[in-house]
Amino acid sequence: MEKTSMIGACLLLAFSLICPAFGSAQELKPIQLLKPQLDGGRPLMQVLKERKSSREFSSEKLPVQVLSNLLWAASGINRPDSGKQTAPSAMNCQEIDIYVAAADGLYLYEVKAHLLKPVLAEDIRAMTGRQAFVKEASINLIYAADFSKMGKATNEDKEFFSAADTGFIAQNVYLYCASEGLATVVRARIDKPALAKVMGLRPDQKITLSQTVGYPKK
Ligand SMILES: Cc1cc2nc3c(=O)[nH]c(=O)nc-3n(C[C@H](O)[C@H](O)[C@H](O)COP(=O)(O)O)c2cc1C
Repeated sequence: MEKTSMIGACLLLAFSLICPAFGSAQELKPIQLLKPQLDGGRPLMQVLKERKSSREFSSEKLPVQVLSNLLWAASGINRPDSGKQTAPSAMNCQEIDIYVAAADGLYLYEVKAHLLKPVLAEDIRAMTGRQAFVKEASINLIYAADFSKMGKATNEDKEFFSAADTGFIAQNVYLYCASEGLATVVRARIDKPALAKVMGLRPDQKITLSQTVGYPKK
């Protein structure tokens, strides 16, 4: 390599290390999610009968309508007057953020705008868990508790409430998937420090669980 292009490459590398935004979110476009389809779905008792964890996924992408329904079911606003959501939340802190790791990058579900906000233009699916299927499935949801939204709760309460609140969201996802014939599994086997680093999380954001969602392998 020529001396000048070598210096250029070094500068580029140094810049990308110093400035984490470089080569990241701006390459991805926000995804405006569609209105959830509220008239579909199978009867609750049948859905409960079908609810299960699956670990074999096809790589087929989820259409935007399915993604929109899924995220609304997970934690979308179901009472616009109060802004409250489909999952209960301890002290109504609404501290669980849902990140979506897809093939084209990482997004944050903005609940109020029902929109996916770009975070990182990188496929980090493989980093969302320690099991091989995570990189094959269409998406992995990453649940991250924002402790800064939990006021003066003790650290013990912050840990307990955010774990409980994540459980409700994850179960909503399980039920939607059972209703739609999608495969899903909620997961704790995650290298949390490595994942938090690549996602650029703040120290007061704590990953609780991840959940893989996709079409079942044929
Ligand atoms: C908090 C929690 C963590 C879990 N972590 C993992 C995991 O890391 N990997 C995995 O394959 N399954 C994981 N599971 C799924 C369980 O293994 C699964 O729910 C259990 O075997 C019962 O199966 P079922 O969901 O089909 O009823 C987890 C479930 C929960 C509730």
